[in-house]
Order: sequence, then C-alpha cells, then structure tokens
Amino acid sequence: MIVMGVESSCDETGVGIVRWHGDGSCELLADEVASSVDQHARFGGVVPEIASRAHLEAIGPTMRRALAAAGIGKPDAIAVTIGPGLAGALLVGVAAAKAYAAAWDIPLYALNHLGGHVAVDTLEHGPMPPAVALLVSGGHTHLLQVSELAAPIVELGSTVDDAAGEAFDKVARLLGLGYPGGPALDSAATQGDPQAIAFPRGMTGPRDPLFDFSFSGLKTAVARYVESAQREGRPIPIPDVAASFQEAVADVLTLKAIRAVRETGVDTLVLGGGATANSRIRSLAEERCTAAGIRLRVPKPRLCTDNGVMIATLGAHVIAGGAEPSDLSVATDPGLPV
Ligand code: KG4
Ligand code: ZN
Repeated sequence: MIVMGVESSCDETGVGIVRWHGDGSCELLADEVASSVDQHARFGGVVPEIASRAHLEAIGPTMRRALAAAGIGKPDAIAVTIGPGLAGALLVGVAAAKAYAAAWDIPLYALNHLGGHVAVDTLEHGPMPPAVALLVSGGHTHLLQVSELAAPIVELGSTVDDAAGEAFDKVARLLGLGYPGGPALDSAATQGDPQAIAFPRGMTGPRDPLFDFSFSGLKTAVARYVESAQREGRPIPIPDVAASFQEAVADVLTLKAIRAVRETGVDTLVLGGGATANSRIRSLAEERCTAAGIRLRVPKPRLCTDNGVMIATLGAHVIAGGAEPSDLSVATDPGLPV
C-alpha cells in the first residue's frame, strides 16, 4: 500500500509518499516541501493570508514533484491534515486532497497534524512501542501517552500559556535574531554560556502539576533582563542570553518528559515537532535518557519540522488499523485538539 500525505497547516506545503510494510513500519518514497518562510520574514511571523496564497501556488507543483520522486502515477490512498492550524492554509491542502481523491478514485483520510509529528518517527526507527511523546511545535507543547498510533492518543499535560516554540520565536525577536526565530536562537546559543544567567524554570515546584508547562514567566524574565541592560547602557550578551534561555527550556521539557515516562511505566520517550530540531533539547534528552535507562527515539531534524511525510506515515498506520475513509465533505478544524 502506497499512501500520499498532504500538509498545509502553517507555512510549509508538504507532500510525502510512503510505502506501508505491514509490520508497523514504512519506507519513505518522496518528501517534498515548499516553504513560504521567506515571504513572512519581513513581518517577523507567519502572515495567514500570505501562507494561504503560497499554498495555493505551491500545492500542484509540490504534488507533481512528489509523484515523480516516488516514480508512481497515483497512490493507493491520500491522507491530509484537517487541523490544528491556520484556517485558510488548511483549506488549500484539504481542497487539493479531496480533488485528487475524487479524480483518482482513491480513499481520503482526514488526520490530526499532531499525531503526524509522533508517527513520523517510525520511518527511521520502526514500529512504535508504548511510549511517552514529547511534542514541541510552534503552537503546541504536549506530553502524550501513545499506545498504538492508530488509536487515540492520551494527553498527560500541556502548556498553560505559551508553546515552547512560540517562546523561542519571541525571545529570538527580542534579541534581534530575526525570523524564523527557533533555528536562529539555536545557532546563536552555540557561542554562549548556558549557565551565564539563571532564568526561571516554570512549573517545576513541588506543588505544580506534574506534566504541565509554563513558558510565559521565562519569556518575561528574558524581556526584563534585556530591558534592564538597555536602561543601564550595558551591552546585551546575546549568545549568553540565548544559551541560558535555551537551557531553561530544554531543562524543563526533558525533566517533565522523563518524569512522565517513569509515572506511566513505559520505557520509551519519543520526541516530535519543530522545536525538537533544537540541538540542546536533543542533547539533553539524550543525556538524561541514557542516565535513566530510557530508550529515546528522535526523528532527524528535517522530519521534526512540518512535512507531508508525517501525514503519509500516520495515514498508513490509521489505514492499517482499519479506519473508515473520510467523506469528501469532511471539514477543516483549525482548533482540533490532540
Ligand atoms: O512543527 P513545526 O514545524 O510547526 C508547527 O506545527 O508549529 O514547529 C515550528 C516551531 C517554530 O516555533 C520554530 O521556531 C521551532 O519549531 N523550531 C526550533 C528549531 N527549529 C524549529 N526551535 C528551536 N530550535 C530549533 N532548531
Ligand atoms: Zn507541526
């Protein structure tokens, strides 16, 4: 079975194609992504209207490139992100997927973007055992309990305010590192001292919820630090601020993820979502999982950020799990929960 995945929830138009192997694993046949990131840069963030228009221009050519790369005329099924994401952006991918499903006479599967971020790991690391997933993207920060990829995912906790990726983007902007902020901050931090400034670790006190996160206090602390340096005419040590902020985020995320693995009695932690492309989140997760005897599964950075392959992979699992295809009248759901 060959499945095409279509992703258009934010600023990447992704079309991926995978072959299902029947043992819980998939093989990657095509991974085409067209990004409108450069068009948003001068606004300092994603402009929904521009993203929708860029998807409309890119979706046809990206699909054709994916079919050519996979060397096929048409897939056996098509899976598409219906949410969560930007309303207008989602509509473009869903309309295209419906049109192709009807024209090719193949089944359509409407999927949750967040599940795709977890499922994509099976491409590189094979079938997924029961695990805790730490999902960290631009709009979401969740700890999830995953038993089977085709089954509903249980939410253990999430952020009560900002998503971690959003905090990366806002702090990068504050430091004048430009857009997209996460990768720019990651690279500035390589020159800095992560212990230089003791930024707060939100929601890690003894009476705080075990699996929830809060990043707005950290973001405010960075803003105060920058403001007071400016007021006093001191130079801002950008690499040190970036490294110390990044260390605080990585510390809290990995601490709570390991706690969740212990509490749920599984032995595997899987990372997913754009911000898990971050070098320090990856290295600290590795250090702490090794020390705790936990198996860590981390997709390569290209598969952590948004792409169509993650939707194709989740689609293959859902189809193999016996799900019914979606109706061609299926709607987008910008606020779709996990
Ligand atoms: O999953 P994703 O590509 O899109 C959403 O579903 O939101 O995640 C995008 C987020 C952005 O906030 C971006 O700044 C962050 O992932 N990101 C990073 C890195 N690469 C992407 N954050 C920190 N370090 C990175 N290397
Ligand atoms: Zn995403």
